[in-house]
Amino acid sequence: MRILVIGGGGREHALVWKFRQSPMVKEIYCAPGNAGIAELASCIDIGVEDINVLLEFALEKKIDLTVVGPEVPLTLGVVDKFQARGLRIFGPSQKAAEIEGSKAFSKELMEKYKIPTAKYQVFTDSKQAFQFIDEIGIPCVVKADGLAAGKGVIICFSKGEAIAAVEEILLKSKFGKAGEKVVIEEYLVGQEVSMLAFTDGKTVIPMVSAQDHKRVFDNDQGPNTGGMGAYSPAPVYTQEIHEIVLKDILEATVLAMAEEGRIFQGILYAGLMLTEAGPKVLEFNARFGDPETQAVLPRLKSDLIDIMEAVVDGELDKASVEWFNEPAVCVVIAAGGYPEEYENGKIISGLKNVPESVLVFHAGTKKEKENILTNGGRVLGVTALGIDIKEAINKAYQGAEQISFEGAQYRKDIGARALV
Ligand code: AMP
Ligand code: GLY
Repeated sequence: MRILVIGGGGREHALVWKFRQSPMVKEIYCAPGNAGIAELASCIDIGVEDINVLLEFALEKKIDLTVVGPEVPLTLGVVDKFQARGLRIFGPSQKAAEIEGSKAFSKELMEKYKIPTAKYQVFTDSKQAFQFIDEIGIPCVVKADGLAAGKGVIICFSKGEAIAAVEEILLKSKFGKAGEKVVIEEYLVGQEVSMLAFTDGKTVIPMVSAQDHKRVFDNDQGPNTGGMGAYSPAPVYTQEIHEIVLKDILEATVLAMAEEGRIFQGILYAGLMLTEAGPKVLEFNARFGDPETQAVLPRLKSDLIDIMEAVVDGELDKASVEWFNEPAVCVVIAAGGYPEEYENGKIISGLKNVPESVLVFHAGTKKEKENILTNGGRVLGVTALGIDIKEAINKAYQGAEQISFEGAQYRKDIGARALV
């Protein structure tokens, strides 16, 4: 088979790494890829938003299966475009990807189908929004409706912050079109868990649980990032909680989407808050998580291509999805300054000293002559499996310690929450 992967981050490196283990796979292309992916696949210089160029490429190379990593091409309708030309592609349609592309849509869906989530309202008018802030009280959470690369969610601990957030989004158009509507919701307290599931629109097969570490510094300090590390499984996510999540959230949502005429095929990712009143949805994503994927995929025993083909064919009920018991930990090494301003082009050294049992997934890297250079905020994800979470943590950090570049930073407490 010839595979095309769209994307160029740590998530896509993990996908390509997993595809390489499938006996069915002959060639892998990745657009645009990165220096690590280039060791396993042919990287092509096409941006993830250039969906017409991607389509031409896939037709020309007779790609058998395209797999979409990031959300933007999904919301631009890459899946619909490929399917209209008879190409097989893994991911939800544009209409189904709206579950991630519009928070207003996903909240309204959850309300209509009684899927547990924070209380909320949607506004286009700032005065009405201010009134609702009074009603719901502080703290509250203000969210831009559309995609904002993780920056569109503002947790407000004072009325002033909440008003300022609404003003930035609705009146000052900080997020452009993504901020034409604002969602204001109740602040939820608890531990966060990411549950990803394969679905063909009928059958739902959940993956193993994972926990992301969104803040840049240890002990969850500092600003939010794309994710500084992840581990799997999350011990707080018990079997009892899982049964509720599977039935009342994942299966209920797939059914709801089908009823709305938006059959969801691909990965449904539920970002959950485990509250005292039970698990509630913070958000849905329509794709694999990053860095959750770098902790979850190394635990997948089954052939991922088999599963993805079953999803595309609407036959997921016939697929087998098996996991290794060993927990996994992924430590993200980021550029100095990230998530604010940072510099690219730093030489990365020590990659060859990382023990073979440790996986290094590249995110923002590029090759120049003999050197591998930093080329993004999140640079590498170092993943290890262990007999237990403690061993996985130790191995991942032993790997990370071998790697250096000017300004490199990583959290020292990835997975620590799973130890208590
Ligand atoms: P989202 O992109 O909607 O997942 O939001 C990003 C992050 O903001 C989440 O991972 C949570 O840490 C936090 N968050 C979002 N919504 C809420 C909420 N209703 N209550 C508390 N925290 C939230
Ligand atoms: N790890 C968060 C995300 O992928 O959106």
